[in-house]
Amino acid sequence: MNTTQKETMKRAEFLRSLSLGTSTLMAVYCLGSLTSCSTGEMDPVTTPPTPTTPGGTTGLTGNATTSAGAINFTVDLTNATYSKLKTAGSFAIIGDLIVAFSTTKTYVALSKVCTHEGTTVQYRSAENDIYCPNHGSEYALTGTVDNGPAVASLKAYKAVVSADGNTLTVTA
Ligand code: FES
Repeated sequence: MNTTQKETMKRAEFLRSLSLGTSTLMAVYCLGSLTSCSTGEMDPVTTPPTPTTPGGTTGLTGNATTSAGAINFTVDLTNATYSKLKTAGSFAIIGDLIVAFSTTKTYVALSKVCTHEGTTVQYRSAENDIYCPNHGSEYALTGTVDNGPAVASLKAYKAVVSADGNTLTVTA
């Protein structure tokens, strides 16, 4: 066997071993994937980031969730996320609340949770009220029920806008 034949042989053996190795690697990889899926683990690379407490750069500071204590937060109405709240007839869901700038240009902040079965409510500018899309309950901007099936009012919070109209403070 000359050098060229030896090299050819080595190459052929190498390719065979590589082929076997690739199959083996694929099998191990697939088994690994199945094992990961069957245990319900998530790929850490694709796991969405855990939400953090809103900060100044998000246009929201303070606490907007009832589970974290008393509601007390400030909305930067110049921030792109919330600047729509400067337009009468608009609303935003912020934490556990619905905040609306009514067609009569008053800010209201209410619990977003319909007291019937917990659906997130909406502000309707045409009716200037709060509406639940699930079963049609209607609430006044004070939170009281206008039409059921809900019977209990939405909790109302204080919403005070700054003199320059750029900051909204919501407190319990
Ligand atoms: S959940 Fe709102 S009306 Fe039923």
